[in-house]
Amino acid sequence: MMFLRWCCFACLFLLVGLRANAQIYRKVGQKKLPYWSIVVDPSGHGNFSTIQSAIDSVPSNNKYWVSIKIMAGTYREKVTIPNDKPYIILKGKGKRRTVVEWGDHDNTSQSPTFTSMAGNIVVKSMSFRNSYNNPMNGKSNVVAAVAAMISGDKSYFLRVGFYGFQDTLWDDAGRHYYKLCTIQGAVDFIFGAAQSLFERCSISVIGGALDPGLPGFITAQGRTNSEDESGFVFKECKVFGNGTTYLGRPWRSNARVFFYKTNMSNIIQPTGWNAWNFAGHEGGITFAEYGNFGAGSDTSKRVNWTKKLDLKTIENMTNTKFIDTDGWLQNLPS
Ligand SMILES: *[C@@H]1O[C@H](CO)[C@@H](O)[C@H](O)[C@H]1NC(C)=O
Ligand SMILES: *[C@@H]1O[C@H](CO)[C@@H](O)[C@H](O)[C@H]1NC(C)=O
Ligand SMILES: *[C@@H]1O[C@H](CO)[C@@H](O)[C@H](O)[C@H]1NC(C)=O
Ligand SMILES: *[C@@H]1O[C@H](CO)[C@@H](O)[C@H](O)[C@H]1NC(C)=O
Ligand SMILES: *[C@@H]1O[C@H](CO)[C@@H](O)[C@H](O)[C@H]1NC(C)=O
Ligand SMILES: *[C@@H]1O[C@H](CO)[C@@H](O)[C@H](O)[C@H]1NC(C)=O
Repeated sequence: MMFLRWCCFACLFLLVGLRANAQIYRKVGQKKLPYWSIVVDPSGHGNFSTIQSAIDSVPSNNKYWVSIKIMAGTYREKVTIPNDKPYIILKGKGKRRTVVEWGDHDNTSQSPTFTSMAGNIVVKSMSFRNSYNNPMNGKSNVVAAVAAMISGDKSYFLRVGFYGFQDTLWDDAGRHYYKLCTIQGAVDFIFGAAQSLFERCSISVIGGALDPGLPGFITAQGRTNSEDESGFVFKECKVFGNGTTYLGRPWRSNARVFFYKTNMSNIIQPTGWNAWNFAGHEGGITFAEYGNFGAGSDTSKRVNWTKKLDLKTIENMTNTKFIDTDGWLQNLPS
């Protein structure tokens, strides 16, 4: 009897222990909250005055959600979340009020204003800009100048702005959910090999600054083989702006991009898509459209190698399950 009771206690203890370990957020009633908060305030009234110093204060191999609250202001700094600092929430005061900007442009990998390498990252209500060519101030500025590079898994962006001209958002690797975000640029401005759902986002095209008649490209997706899970899905988004643009061109052989129930203005090139270096090898590419509307959504003049997805695939790709089969989105603290 004693032994049994001891077993029960031991089991209970073990269970609670494991749960506590797995419970990387704090639960208050039904609410999931981060374990602690840090305030970044350039006026000196917070814990730190730069975003990077706040991130630097998070311990390596952090296991508990930490919220970094960023007061309104224009932060002239480059910001990096290294891959040993997961479970960070960056929370600004609004897309237009909390802005991080820098203007590097030596090459693609050196240029990002914001670099996120860790998994389990949340960013809300702020913007990242590469100011080298946004706003545009001369045509010679058409070089890669990344506003944000996202390389970690399980990353969620809510009401975040990304502003650049060429290669604005390097959606590099991992599973990402972008909701109510704004992404601005002209050339390959959403590119990379991540597996991402962009829901109700504004795709702001500024191709008007390119040489007259030169079209831009919204996406340059980098899927490399048919088993690769990566791909960009745009669901209920809005594509608008100036100049003209293709919906995308393949960066790698099996590029996958799908526009769904999206409002497309008349800036879309009637042929829709460009084969770039894969002309003659379009078979591996999955570029598809379904249920879009607006002046640019007419598919009658599209290139003849776009794919028609079956309804089951459409259902799979337009659900958050596309990026979340293990429930990570449901377990984020608020
Ligand atoms: C942040 O500043 C507040 C107020 O001064 C203080 O109570 C808190 O301990 C600080 N937090 C950290 C993580 O430094
Ligand atoms: C990018 O530029 C930096 C200098 O800013 C240089 O150190 C680095 O080697 C370059 N990387 C590549 C891939 O060219
Ligand atoms: C294109 O739109 C952007 C953003 O609204 C604006 O700053 C820019 O001046 C416009 N360019 C042209 C050529 O109309
Ligand atoms: C689509 O976008 C255009 C241009 O912004 C807007 O005028 C129109 O109302 C939108 N259509 C719908 C059905 O939301
Ligand atoms: C697709 O269009 C290209 C050129 O526009 C043409 O050469 C090719 O034969 C067409 N392929 C099919 C399957 O219709
Ligand atoms: C849809 O997703 C389910 C579950 O992830 C998967 O088993 C099924 O094969 C997918 N179907 C298609 C057509 O992609």
